[in-house]
This record gives sequence, C-alpha cells and structure tokens, in this order.
Amino acid sequence: MSAIAAPVSAASLLQGMPFDRIRVDIDERGYDILIGTGLLGDPATYLSLPADAVAVVVSNTTVAPLFADRVTSCLRGRFRSVGQVTLEDGESHKAWPAVERIFDALLATGADRRAWLFALGGGVVGDLTGFAAACYMRGIAYVQMPTTLLAQVDSSVGGKTAINHPLGKNLIGAFHQPRLVVADLETLATLPQRELVAGLAEVIKIGAAADAAFFDWIEANLDRMLGRDTQALALAIRKSCTLKAEIVRRDEKEAGLRAILNLGHTFGHAIEAATGFGAWLHGEAVGCGMVLAADLSRRWGGLDANGAARFAALVERAGLPVRLPPLPAARLAELMLHDKKAEGGAPRFVLLDALGRAKVAAVEERLVLDVLRDGGATH
Ligand code: NAD
Ligand code: GLY
Repeated sequence: MSAIAAPVSAASLLQGMPFDRIRVDIDERGYDILIGTGLLGDPATYLSLPADAVAVVVSNTTVAPLFADRVTSCLRGRFRSVGQVTLEDGESHKAWPAVERIFDALLATGADRRAWLFALGGGVVGDLTGFAAACYMRGIAYVQMPTTLLAQVDSSVGGKTAINHPLGKNLIGAFHQPRLVVADLETLATLPQRELVAGLAEVIKIGAAADAAFFDWIEANLDRMLGRDTQALALAIRKSCTLKAEIVRRDEKEAGLRAILNLGHTFGHAIEAATGFGAWLHGEAVGCGMVLAADLSRRWGGLDANGAARFAALVERAGLPVRLPPLPAARLAELMLHDKKAEGGAPRFVLLDALGRAKVAAVEERLVLDVLRDGGATH
C-alpha cells in the first residue's frame, strides 16, 4: 500500500476545512465526499443536484427527528417533489421489509428513473437505501448523508449496499455508487458514546490495514477522538475517506485489494450472526474480530507478537470488546463459511504482515480453531 501511505500531518489534513472535498475517482461514476460542519442545512451543498426530479429522503425513527427537516427544506428548493420514509431503527431491520417500504415511498411520490434517494443516517440506513437505489427501476441515483462516525469514515463511501440474511451479514446486495457523500460533522454531537466507539473500530481498521503512519496517529490521538475533539475527528474522517477512496479507485468491485478493508470482518460477521443481529454493534464485532485476526496473523507467521499486542491494546483502549462472547467455536466456524470471501468452501481471512500492511489468504483450519478456542486478547 506504499502508494497511499502518506504520513498524516494536521496541516495537510485540515487544508480546506471546514468544507473539505475528496474525490472518489472512478471514471464517469466518480463522486465527491464533502466533509464539513453544517452541510446538511446549507443550500450550497445541493447545488450540483438536478432541479426538477423527485427526491425521497430515507431515514429512521432516531435520526429523522434530529436532521430530516434541514435536509427536506433544502431539497424543496430544488426538487420537483420531496417524499420521506422513516424506517424502524436497528440492524435487525436491515432486511427486505425495509427495502419494500422505500419502494412504496418512491412509488407514492411518483418517482421515475430520474428520481433520487437520500440516505440520512448511519450505515444501516445507508446500506438499505443504496440497495433500494440499485434495484428500483434497475438503478436510480442516491446520496449518502452519513450521521454516525462509522458511516462517515467507511460505509457511506465505496458503493457497497446490502441487506442481511439470517445466515449471514450483507449476503444480499449490489455494488452501486452514490452520486455524492455529505458528511456533516455537526451530526456527531448527538451520537451516543457507544456508537462513537464503534466507529473508531473502522478508523483503527483502515490504519492497521493500509497505513502504518495513520495507525501511529490513531494511537497518539485516541483520547482526543474519545473526547470528541472536532479537529481530531475531522482528521480521522478525512484520512479514512482518502485512503478508502484510493482503494476503491484501484479495486471498485473487490477483485483483490479492496478485500483488506474487511480486516476482522470474517470473525466479526460470524459474531454478529451468532449473537443475533443488533446484540453487538457492527463496530464492536469488528473490534473483537480484528483482535482475533491479529492473533491469527501472529500464529500464521505474519504480524510479530509485539505488533499483535500493540494492536489489541489499542482496540481495548478504544473501549471495544477484545474477547469472544461465550459461543461454541463450531458455530462460529460454520458461520464463517458463509463469508463472501470464502472460496471452495474454505473461509479466507485478511491477515496482517505488519501494522499498516494487510493481505487476504486461506489459513489452516487448525490455526483458526486455536484462535477461537483462546478467544482473543489474553492479558
Ligand atoms: P446504525 O446505522 O445502526 O447507527 C447506529 C445507531 O445510531 C442507530 O441507532 C442510529 O439510529 C443512531 N444514530 C445515527 N446517527 C445518529 C446521530 N447523529 N445522533 C444520534 N443517533 C444516531 O449503525 P452504524 O454503525 O452507523 O452502521 C453499521 C452498519 O453499516 C452495519 O449494518 C454494517 O454492516 C454497515 N457497514 C457497511 C459498510 C459498507 O461499505 N457499505 C461498511 C461498514 C459497515
Ligand atoms: N467496508 C468494506 C468495504 O467497503 O469494502
């Protein structure tokens, strides 16, 4: 990943703040990520959007009362008609009935192929809305308006959309890129601390997988982020989006490189499915899954013991779980077979050669079972 592993300095990352623009440069489907404060209620944010189409804002029962009005009032000045659908909150609702409610709202608003969807919420709303946009009339435009840290650093960028199946996370989905991403830092003010911490899991993930200097920066600035220092959070969002945009540019459909963004996810998705979607937050499952992946990397002969311990210590200091819940190893191993990276019936894992350098490989089942038996960090 040397081509994207530029050192992180506050001066370079804050250039252009409070309104920052990062390009996801994928040919004619490229788009901007806007990062700043007060963007959702600023009509200037919407200037690049069409003036005469139908818009439907998708949100949920928690986020809509907080932010939907400022979005719909800006859209009313631009779009022909503006509909709204408010979904139930929670990972357990990332399923077909919610997608059908979005279709119903589109049809009720008279949406044709030129309609636009607006995903206002965390990763659940973003994944659902993107999936509905990919399917409705074989594909319509949508805008990501992420309101959680997790969604601002990861899920709103890159065009992965999906719903869950009882047998596994995100098994039904499509690649469908948004036309614009609007990350308004103001929305993080109402985010519960547990959700902020869950978002930090994805920040740590991208540093560990792709950029050693960023990993060092996260270690040094974790307390600032936990304390909601806006400048530190802005830097983390900007760097995470810059790294992800470059990975997506190089491998949009996950033919290879992009899979490193799944560090910890083979274990994490199995934890989510085994505990019942929503019991653990996605970021919490990823946090624990990354500690297991670091342990697996060590046993496999990649990451050294010092690196694995440093990694587990950071995840723990962030306030994320570092030990497996009491679940039968055989159940987790079975669920991992449904992971999308599995090939020929064998799960594959994102492994670390070193902090900041990841690769995907199959490993001996014996090593995986040893990791599951020991269950994570041991101190
Ligand atoms: P989430 O969408 O469930 O949001 C977390 C909680 O915070 C919810 O209760 C939500 O209503 C609430 N919330 C959102 N914004 C708020 C705000 N500003 N103030 C107060 N409350 C707010 O969870 P998440 O962590 O954002 O996303 C997790 C989902 O993202 C998972 O389904 C995961 O699979 C998916 N994901 C997708 C990708 C991708 O590339 N598409 C990447 C990572 C994760
Ligand atoms: N969150 C993993 C990816 O977008 O590829």
